[in-house]
Amino acid sequence: MSGPAVLSVASEVFPLVKTGGLADVAGALPPALAAEGVAVRTLLPGYPAVLAALPAAATVHDWPLLNGGPARLLEARAAGLDLFVLDAPHLYDRPGNPYVGADGKDWPDNALRFGALGAVAAELGRGLLPAFAPGIVHAHDWQAALAPAYLHYAGEPRPRTVMTVHNLAFQGQFPAELLAPLGLPPHAFAMDGVEYYGTIGFLKAGIALADRITTVSPRYAMEIRTPEFGMGLDGLLRSRAGALFGILNGIDTEYWNPATDPYLAARFDAGSIAARAANKRALQERLGLDVGDDAPLFGVVSRLTWQKGMDVLLAALPELLAHGAQLALVGSGEAELEAGMRAAAAANPGRIGVLIGFDEAAAHLVQGGSDALLVPSRFEPCGLTQLCALRYGSVPVVARVGGLADTVIDANEMALVASAGNGLQFSPVTPEALALTLERAVALWRDRPTWRRLQQHAMSAEVGWQRPARQYAALYRSLATA
Ligand code: ADP
Ligand code: GLC
Repeated sequence: MSGPAVLSVASEVFPLVKTGGLADVAGALPPALAAEGVAVRTLLPGYPAVLAALPAAATVHDWPLLNGGPARLLEARAAGLDLFVLDAPHLYDRPGNPYVGADGKDWPDNALRFGALGAVAAELGRGLLPAFAPGIVHAHDWQAALAPAYLHYAGEPRPRTVMTVHNLAFQGQFPAELLAPLGLPPHAFAMDGVEYYGTIGFLKAGIALADRITTVSPRYAMEIRTPEFGMGLDGLLRSRAGALFGILNGIDTEYWNPATDPYLAARFDAGSIAARAANKRALQERLGLDVGDDAPLFGVVSRLTWQKGMDVLLAALPELLAHGAQLALVGSGEAELEAGMRAAAAANPGRIGVLIGFDEAAAHLVQGGSDALLVPSRFEPCGLTQLCALRYGSVPVVARVGGLADTVIDANEMALVASAGNGLQFSPVTPEALALTLERAVALWRDRPTWRRLQQHAMSAEVGWQRPARQYAALYRSLATA
């Protein structure tokens, strides 16, 4: 069955630009939707890395002045995606991370940078290019969240809008004086509009004004309606509950495929799990750990932030070591946590190995070589690393929150009897609860036949995009006929 044409709008898209899971989703969902008969075009900013990857892009529109400078819209096809790239050098021609400068601070003009993204999405939605008339504009996270707002205030006829919340912690809040520079009408600055505690709230606006809101797991869709997880937006989300849906993320199972992964020392599948031993050795060597299979090896691939519970992990490291386990961590983020991880490695040579940085190859090796993958997040909208871990037979040990709770089946006694468990869950997110679960994981690992069964269950889990893509396609169709 086919569906309405869709414009997907995101500030990062793998493999062109990535800081986290948003890029993975924005890069993998459109091809999966194509298989459902839904044609998607993707709009993203023209950062230097994006432009460099698209030398053959064609200019399809020019703006003499867009939020302070000239801009043009490029069209290109790359990485299986039909792309629109917003080339606006005064906004995007900057080195490094898309959101922060070299000083680690947000770019001061982020409102105008990502306001332009939303504004161009709205223009495309309203027929800027006669050859492309989307029925749906799908905005991802705060950077794209003004698109539904601009479309709302422009009035009918307009495409229907979907706002996907990947992380409620990042909301895009800016001073009220930017209302006119952003081209929003004065009446937009209201409680049922873009106004948010006296500021302009990009994500707030998207949530308030989109026709549908989705988030990336059913459990997170419930959690964010509570004060504990709602980050100040729970009231609004409760009021919009009828338009709010949780659709679990998938991963690109061709890219994340242990049978073909070029980053692994040894490739394997569910029938050759023993071959993982070579990856464990390679990972131990890469991270300076004692090489051998007499210690269980816990892996981490993560932003080093409070959300990800990395301080909780640091506090539980003595217990991890006391149980004879090793840790292999690949991550980057907050300076204090980076320093803490480095210090732990220095104090425990051969037992704790850390690679501070963003390293695609090392991330794959952790998935293919660790015995278990730790994800001790305080909150987790979906989480993708535990899905990769399932696919690679690294048993996920996760906090019982959000998408982690929705994707990992705890190997408790009854689950073991029923042959259902594929990982371990713990709660609450405290060093004590984590330490107890590490103890449980190590005991299961020492029972090799049981551990092998867990790995097999993990590797047989459905973690691809087929099911979620069908759900997005159904949502688009329901909107197009609404
Ligand atoms: P989030 O988007 O909150 O950071 P996700 O689990 O959804 O968390 O996605 C994280 C993505 O980024 C995964 O694809 C993971 O492999 C990748 N990743 C995270 N940290 C690193 C790192 N240091 N090096 C390489 N890849 C990383
Ligand atoms: C966010 C969330 C993460 C989710 C990702 C993709 O970065 O923190 O849980 O998997 O978006 O949706």
